[in-house]
Parts: sequence; C-alpha cells; structure tokens
Amino acid sequence: MFTETAIKTLSHYKTPFYYYDLALLKKTLETVNTESSKYNYHVHYAFKANTNARLIDIIKQYGLGADCVSGNEVKCAIENGFEASHIVFAGVGKNDDEINYALEKNIFCFNCESMQELDVINELAAKKNKVASIALRINPNVDAHTHKYITTGLEENKFGINPYEFETVIEKIKILPNLKLIGLHFHIGSQITDLSPYKKLCTRVNEINHFFLNKGFDLPVINVGGGIGINYHQPDKEAIIDFAAYFKVFHDFIELRKNQQLHFELGRAIIAQCGSLISRVLYIKNGINTNFAILDAGMTELIRPALYQAYHKIENISSDSSTTIKYDVVGPICESSDCFGKAVELPETKRGDLIAIRSAGAYGEVMSSRYNLRDEVRSYFSE
Ligand code: LLP
Repeated sequence: MFTETAIKTLSHYKTPFYYYDLALLKKTLETVNTESSKYNYHVHYAFKANTNARLIDIIKQYGLGADCVSGNEVKCAIENGFEASHIVFAGVGKNDDEINYALEKNIFCFNCESMQELDVINELAAKKNKVASIALRINPNVDAHTHKYITTGLEENKFGINPYEFETVIEKIKILPNLKLIGLHFHIGSQITDLSPYKKLCTRVNEINHFFLNKGFDLPVINVGGGIGINYHQPDKEAIIDFAAYFKVFHDFIELRKNQQLHFELGRAIIAQCGSLISRVLYIKNGINTNFAILDAGMTELIRPALYQAYHKIENISSDSSTTIKYDVVGPICESSDCFGKAVELPETKRGDLIAIRSAGAYGEVMSSRYNLRDEVRSYFSE
C-alpha cells in the first residue's frame, strides 16, 4: 500500500529500485519473536533471501540467528554483528576455504549434507586442532507441494543425507574425532502455503530423532529449516503471515525431549512483503491482441517470474485513470522470458507511470544480475 506522500517521494528517485518498508519489517520481526518465544524456539534469518545491509542490521537487532549457505554469507553475518555462536552453515557444496573460514570463526553448527563432506570437515578441523559441531541435514522424503525448483526434501533432490545411509553415517561419526554431532537438520522446500507438509515433516522428525536416540545419540538440536510461504496475491491483506499457526504446528506435532531445542530458518516470511520493485513505464506498445507495457526494470532486477513462473502483484501507483486495460508487463532485456505478468489488468497506463511489483523483498535484490551490463539495482527505505 502506497500513500500519496510515499508516491510523491518515490517519483523523485531514479528507477528502477527496491523500496523497503522498514516499519513492516519491524512489525514482522516482533510477531516472529512473540510467537516463537511462546515455545522457546530459536529463529535464524536465512541470509540467502536478502542481504541488504540496512535490513540485516534491523534483523540482528531483533536477536535472530543467521542461516548461511556460503562462506561469504557467513562473513556477511559476522561483519554485520551476528554472533558466530548463532550462525548455522548449510549447503550441498561447501568448499575448503568456506569450511576453514567457518571453523576459524567457531560458528554454532555446520549442517552437513553428504558422507564425503563429513570426512572433509573432520580433516580440516583436525588441521586446526578443532572439533566442529555438526548437524546432519536429512532428506526426509516429504513432498512440500511447491514449485519443483524450490522443492528440496524429496529423494530425487540433491540435498541432504538419505535414511538408507544412516547406519553408515553413524559408524563414520563414531570414528571421526574432530566432529561433534549435535543435531538433525531438515528443510523441505520454499513457498509452502499449506501447513500439512510440516505436519508430515514433524512425524518424520519424530521417527528419525527416535532412531538416533536408540543408536546412542541424544542430540540437543533439531532444526526444521524454513519455507513457509507468503500471500503473493494479496500483499496488503496478509502483510504478515500467521506465525502463531505456523509455530503451533510444530508445538503440536513434534516430540522434543526436555534437553532439545527447536531451530527454524526463515527467509521469505520475514522479508518478502517488505519490499517492492519500483519501475517506470518506458513505452506502451499496442498490438492487435496484446498490449505491452515496457518497463525500465526487467528480469535482471527480479528474476522470479522468468525463473519460476512466479506471480507478483503489479500495480500502477501513479495513474488515476478509471479505465482499465490489459497489458503484458515486460522488461527491457533481450529475452522473451523477461515478462513480469501476462494480461495484467491495470488502469490505463502511459510512458512515465510508476509501477510497483509487490512482495519482492525476498529473492529479489539478492538474485539481481548485471546481464546486458545493466546498472546495479539501488534501494531506498521508508522508515
Ligand atoms: N533453509 C534452507 C536450508 C534453505 O535452503 C532455504 C531456502 C531456507 C532455509 C529459507 O527458505 P524460505 O523460508 O525463504 O522459504 N529463490 C527461490 C527460493 C529458494 C529457496 C532456497 N532455500 C525463490 O525465489 O522462490
């Protein structure tokens, strides 16, 4: 929702740019903290969703930990004041430099994704005379019912260790002296809009948690990842997701022992609704069957529609026309996939109008590129 004053301010900036609503971010973080603290849950912010310095500074102030998937994300978290003891590091292909850096910083936990990775972390930790705390990222074979590119918890996906490997993993852990197994980690996918996959996940977690206890591992950390989806169709109606219902599913369905902490890694649900991509209409091109609104932002600024056929609400925030027309809203990049939406109903739109592409705070700016040698995308903030 854009006020008259906000639109006036935005019209002075050179487009395209990301515009972040910091008041909404703070309200979202307050809700996360209120709802998760009812059960003493630990929430990490998934850095991959957005690493804009101004935003992560606010997220840090609310006391969240950091979930990182590269050495540079670990570095970014540390340089922005996140405690190493609150950093988890996942990723199916951590390289030696990244592992060494995280070992030097004594991060809380490596989420390990394969048998070979266990050997490598053990070897690198031994060279530093350290013992690395690790959690096993388990592939629970639970279908998240989301887009196939962001489904991660099926046997066919590259992520995690599969249950048929458990016996071998356990034998391995027993003989690797520079690893300390502290937990089990799961993440089944992203933009999950129904809570039932999480109920299934809880059942799998209970079975696996029990299995490891029987094998003599009383693990203090259970990490169920992130992935809870947001409402891309009605960003104003549901600016903050129902965190109460989300955390309650875990409270109701997961069986934790007294000494066990439950950890989460949330990205999209924290940051997506706070950001819009603001762009200007460069040209209107009217065809026989299709009208095009050609924007000065493209897939280089926001790749989600091109990559995942993702829906983002598109609004003309400067037109006051009462006539509506359908447009294919496209960018300037030399690719036909550079399209934000087909047959989008907008008020009659003209060159120079301001267009807001909503719910773009997560996996927007951070996935932008300089393809076609585009300028780096800028960002502005509303307090
Ligand atoms: N933990 C792990 C291990 C992950 O792989 C991810 C996301 C998260 C947590 C955070 O998930 P979230 O709460 O944000 O759904 N670029 C895609 C999303 C990729 C998600 C990758 N992993 C998109 O634009 O939809």
